[in-house]
Amino acid sequence: MDIKKVVIPVAGWGTRSLPATKNIPKEMLPIYKKPIVQYIVEEAMQAGLKDVVFITNQNKRIIEDHFDRNFLLEQLLTRGGKLDLLEEVKRVADMVNVVSVRQKVQLGLGHAVLCASEVCKNEPFAVMLGDDLMFGLNSGISQLIEAAKAENKAVVGVIEVPRDKVSKYGVIAGEEFAKGMYRVSKLVEKPKVEDAPSNLAIIGRYVLLPEIFDILDGQKAGVGGEIQLTDALQGLADRDKLIAVKLQGQRFDAGDWVEYLTANIYFALHDEELRDDLVKRLQELLSCSD
Ligand code: G1P
Repeated sequence: MDIKKVVIPVAGWGTRSLPATKNIPKEMLPIYKKPIVQYIVEEAMQAGLKDVVFITNQNKRIIEDHFDRNFLLEQLLTRGGKLDLLEEVKRVADMVNVVSVRQKVQLGLGHAVLCASEVCKNEPFAVMLGDDLMFGLNSGISQLIEAAKAENKAVVGVIEVPRDKVSKYGVIAGEEFAKGMYRVSKLVEKPKVEDAPSNLAIIGRYVLLPEIFDILDGQKAGVGGEIQLTDALQGLADRDKLIAVKLQGQRFDAGDWVEYLTANIYFALHDEELRDDLVKRLQELLSCSD
């Protein structure tokens, strides 16, 4: 199985992050020095995915611009002798090939993925959601690609979540056939706690087969009146073509303020130049009563 393309839906409104996202795409909010979407693209790159398909809308143009050259800025940095920064902005522009598809009406995640059908029609492809940031030794999506190749099936990434949090996610039921790998029999999008088939929650990493497009094309609206990707995945599960892989690594939900801020601190703490000063300031803050 050869997987070259990654679909990244970025047409959502980011209401959880308002008012910060009133005029800035949520994917462009910075986590430490980089916008959220750059972490997603870098994870894809580490997995060897070079073609990025953004599912976008008219307010999201700056996401594409971020992965393009900016000659005025490059001139300025050259003139100022800021060669490290120059290299960095050029590196970001050269990272991936970008294709954009407009999602003209936001009908749900399933609909967003369906918008990629013309670009990905005959090949398996990855999907990554911008709200889920994954960090670890192995890029999150590469863990799924490895499993998809080994089993020749579609794959969803899952993590265990506390029982009382299942309603925020798509949840799977399945039989564990190897450590951390499940044959998926059932999927429920945003179940009530009492209806959840397990506490294995889907996080935003998928490897899909092109037949998902036919399923999505006929998919009726589900929870929240939206066309849900999770519901369409049931079609793959029914054909015994879907497995789930428990992902290893740190995961942050960028749409949740505590998680967003923690991710900022996580990265800042990994920067040796900053680490000691940051720890000192945090300790001061924690011990002060103002
Ligand atoms: C989407 C998916 C859901 C998944 C979640 C992961 O939901 O529909 O199955 O568990 O992403 O972040 P959303 O968070 O967009 O409502």
